[in-house]
Amino acid sequence: MIHSSSGSAHGRPDTSATAMTNAGRPAPARVGVLGGGRMGAGIAHAFLLAGSRVAVVERDSGAAEAASGRIAETVGRSVERDAALDASEIIGRLSCGVDFASFEACDLVIEAVPEDRTLKTSALQSAEAAMTETAVLASNTSSISIDDLASVLTRPDRFLGLHFFNPVPASLLVEIVRGTATDAAVVDDAQGHVRALGKAPIVVKDSPGFASSRLGVMLGLEAIRMLEEGVASAEDIDAAMTLGYRHPLGPLRTTDIVGLDVRLGIAEELASALGPRFEAPALLRTMVAEGRLGRKSGEGFYNWSSAPAENGGRS
Ligand SMILES: NC(=O)c1ccc[n+]([C@@H]2O[C@H](COP(=O)([O-])OP(=O)(O)OC[C@H]3O[C@@H](n4cnc5c(N)ncnc54)[C@H](O)[C@@H]3O)[C@@H](O)[C@H]2O)c1
Repeated sequence: MIHSSSGSAHGRPDTSATAMTNAGRPAPARVGVLGGGRMGAGIAHAFLLAGSRVAVVERDSGAAEAASGRIAETVGRSVERDAALDASEIIGRLSCGVDFASFEACDLVIEAVPEDRTLKTSALQSAEAAMTETAVLASNTSSISIDDLASVLTRPDRFLGLHFFNPVPASLLVEIVRGTATDAAVVDDAQGHVRALGKAPIVVKDSPGFASSRLGVMLGLEAIRMLEEGVASAEDIDAAMTLGYRHPLGPLRTTDIVGLDVRLGIAEELASALGPRFEAPALLRTMVAEGRLGRKSGEGFYNWSSAPAENGGRS
């Protein structure tokens, strides 16, 4: 996982890692977001700050109201940091509701409902049915195969993965996942859209764990195995990577922030797809069974009971 505290929607990242063939393109004029939870609200915020009109569709009116509140709060924080921003103008470009018809006018719709295959396939089908034939549909899934999701769609060539990181405003990376059927022009446009958000795209073939989870989880699992074997303390294992390799966070602290249960779920999925090198260590299973899930439960490899400010992302 790449994490940068300077990667706000207004920060200009160094995108030299990827060819700049699509640099300078504006964000899409109209963007739809399906599911305005943690990630969907962050994605909506990013496009609003880049000048798009954003329509969020939620499962019921209470959830739509909650999404609207989350986005307004994040916009408020951006406005506090940047006097050039006008909160009412930005919020004026946002709508939150329950009607898929608001996706009719969208150039791009990003699905961010919970990581449940059945829920995602039905949500994606409903979104696609409401969209025009030329619009692009994306999923923010962190682990489900884009080809599997594409198999239920009528326009798989206009579908891809857009994997944003948490927290979206502070995360520089967006992983673009190219399905077997995804049109090359759709991938190229997506890179331009990501850059318009002030973020950096990487393009990854649809494969288990994409690039970020596969590498991030592997490092985290090995760190847990080292702790299990008494190689070093959690602090020292993390320092090996923060001080030795200049990672912003160590693999155990990152696992705490992501959630041990989330990491276990991804490890199990990767083990079934890629083999025993992703087998979860016994210590991880024990800690999850005991409810020591990391920051969200107050205890993981570190003690989080004093609830420190959020300072990390997820892979
Ligand atoms: N949280 C993270 O760290 C993170 C990071 C990267 C990617 N992701 C992925 O992003 C997606 C969303 O995760 P999240 O953490 O934002 O979840 P979340 O639970 O915070 O938000 C999901 C939202 O979807 C809404 N929803 C549920 N069913 C719906 C439906 N049928 N129609 C419309 N809205 C519906 C919920 O009301 C909720 O607001 C998942 O696929 C997850 O794997 C999460």
